Amino acid sequence: MKLGADSRSDRQTRVEILEQGRHISLSWPDRPSSRFHAIWLRDNGHDSKTRDPGSWQKLVTLHDIPAQTRVESATVNEESGQLELTFYPDQWSTCIDTNWLWEHRYDVDEPKEPALFRSNVATWSANFAGALPSVSFAHAKSDPQALLQWLSGIDHYGIAIMEDIPIRSESVLEVVGLFGFPRQTNQGTWFEIKVESNPINLATSALGLQAHTDNPYRDPVPTLQLFGCLQNEADGGESIVVDGFKAAEVLRQESPDYFHLLTNHSAQFDFHGGGQSHLRSSKPMIECSPEGQVVGVRFNNRSSDAFTGIPFDTMQAYYEAYRRFGELLSSEELQVVFKLRPGQLFITDNTRVLHGRKAFSGGTRWMQGAYADKDALRSKIKVLSRELSPPE
Ligand code: FE2
Repeated sequence: MKLGADSRSDRQTRVEILEQGRHISLSWPDRPSSRFHAIWLRDNGHDSKTRDPGSWQKLVTLHDIPAQTRVESATVNEESGQLELTFYPDQWSTCIDTNWLWEHRYDVDEPKEPALFRSNVATWSANFAGALPSVSFAHAKSDPQALLQWLSGIDHYGIAIMEDIPIRSESVLEVVGLFGFPRQTNQGTWFEIKVESNPINLATSALGLQAHTDNPYRDPVPTLQLFGCLQNEADGGESIVVDGFKAAEVLRQESPDYFHLLTNHSAQFDFHGGGQSHLRSSKPMIECSPEGQVVGVRFNNRSSDAFTGIPFDTMQAYYEAYRRFGELLSSEELQVVFKLRPGQLFITDNTRVLHGRKAFSGGTRWMQGAYADKDALRSKIKVLSRELSPPE
C-alpha cells in the first residue's frame, strides 16, 4: 500500500491512508480533515460502473463489494479535484470529487446534546403573527425567486400565507400546481369547507375546532394542507395556527417525563367516513427520529380513538401528558390567530403545524382545501435553488 499524500503545500488537498487501508484521512485547504471508511468510499464511487451517469442511480449492491475491502492507493489529482482510489482485494478503481466528499463528510464531532429539530427548522409562537411568510399568487407564478422564497418559508416555519388567489372553485389546486401535486384521498383531490346541515365531519359545521393536525388516521398522513378562502362574511371563524414543534419543545423543557410518554407510546386514531371508508393508524403524538429529533406531531381530539396500546400502569400519566400538550397547543402564548379574507390562502406542514378555528355564525364562510406533500415541495426548492444560483 502506498501513501498518496502530497505535502508540497498547505494549499493542496491531501490524503493519507490509515489503519492498513480501513480508512483514509482527507485534508482540504483551510478546512478540518475528515476520515472516510474504505467500504463507504467503495460504495460511493463516482465511476460509471458504480453509478449510472444518466440517472446517477447505483449499479451495484453491497453484495457486489468484497466485505474485506481496503484502500490500496489514494491520490488527489489537483488538476481535476478528484480523489483517485484503488481498492484491495479486487483492484477496483474509482474516483470521487473532493468537493463532493467535503459536502458529504460524516466524521464530525457528536454534539453533547443533539438538536431537537433538523437544522432548517425555526420554531415560533404568538409573536410570529406579523411575520408569516407571504406572497401573492401572481408574484409566485411569475417570479421563480419569489416562489423559492415562499416555499423555503414553508420548509422553515411550517406555514405561509398566499394573497390574491383566484376567487373561483378549485383555485387551491392552482396553488398546489406551483410546486407539486395534490394528494388524492377518499375526499377527492380537493374538498369544500362550508356549513352543512348534517356533516359527516365536524370540519363542515359551524363549531369551533381545537387546533389539530389533519387526518392523523391516515398512514402516511398528508404532509401539507392548504385552505383557500373564497367567501367569508361570517361573524367569528378566525383561523388558528400553532407550531406543534414549539409546543413539543416547551413540553420537553418543562417535563421530560411527559415528552417521553408522548414520544414512546402510540396513540390510536380512527375515522369512519360515512360507511365508505374506515381509516385507522397507531402512531405517537410526538414522533422522533432514531437520533432523537422531533420529526412529526399528530394531535386531533375528534379522531382520537380509545388508547389501547398504553400499559395500565402508564395510562394515568399518559393522560396527564396528553392534557398538558393540549394546553400548550391551546395557549394564547403559542397561537397565531387571523381571519382569512376572500382570496387569501394558508398552507401548513401538516406533520408540524396545527390549525383550528373559532366558532362562527351569520354569513357564509366558504373555504376550499386540498392536501399535497412535502417531498415535491422540497424537490422544487432544490431545483429552483440550482436554477437560480449564479453559474460558477
Ligand atoms: Fe382540519
